[in-house]
Amino acid sequence: MTLPSAPRIEPSILSADFANMQRDLERIAGADLVHVDVMDNHFVPNLTFGPQMVERVQAVSPIPLDVHLMIADVDRWGPGYAELGAASVTFHAEATADPVALARRIRSIGSRAGVALKPGTPIDDIAANLDEFDQVLVMTVEPGFGGQSFMADMMPKLAALRAEAKRRGSSVWLQVDGGIAPGTIEQAAAAGADSFVAGSAVFGADDIDQRIRDLRDLARTHMH
Ligand code: DX5
Ligand code: ZN
Repeated sequence: MTLPSAPRIEPSILSADFANMQRDLERIAGADLVHVDVMDNHFVPNLTFGPQMVERVQAVSPIPLDVHLMIADVDRWGPGYAELGAASVTFHAEATADPVALARRIRSIGSRAGVALKPGTPIDDIAANLDEFDQVLVMTVEPGFGGQSFMADMMPKLAALRAEAKRRGSSVWLQVDGGIAPGTIEQAAAAGADSFVAGSAVFGADDIDQRIRDLRDLARTHMH
């Protein structure tokens, strides 16, 4: 599978119309990957969908899947999403005792392995093992809901991860998720992100294609 180059724009279907999912997947065909938020009403106080839905999204989506697991007991349930053929599977560091072991399992199945950090979670354990991951997701809201405000105070975490990636010569993708829109994507790009999840900013736009292009252009202009 050839994966898109940076900057990557990744619309979150949390903001799509769940009764018209295939139509909305076609509307974002100009994006780089489709971000799929799996929530279990336990790790986060919201409920979306599970493997059956992800399998159907995978079957009909014109672009590859970036699965974001906001679920407890991810050691048990996470590898199944890689087995569905998702290009990328990201789990939360807070949901497993051994992020490196889980990332190795996901990679061995054939997906890129991502690890996500809630706003209160420090980067140290992940930065020390950066080569074990294909992507680090720095949450810029508390996970659980779309439409929240971007947390600019997460930018130092991103910058520190970018510095560590540079130091190692690592090609790890650094992703942001939450409140990304024109007006905030610039800061995230400048701080070192190369992959940008946007839910309400994409699906709330009058012209979805144009919004995706605008976000990509803004990110490109502000990345170093
Ligand atoms: C929040 C989800 C996000 C959400 C982002 O927990 O992980 O992917 O869809 O929505 P916006 O872009 O509206 O903040
Ligand atoms: Zn997400």
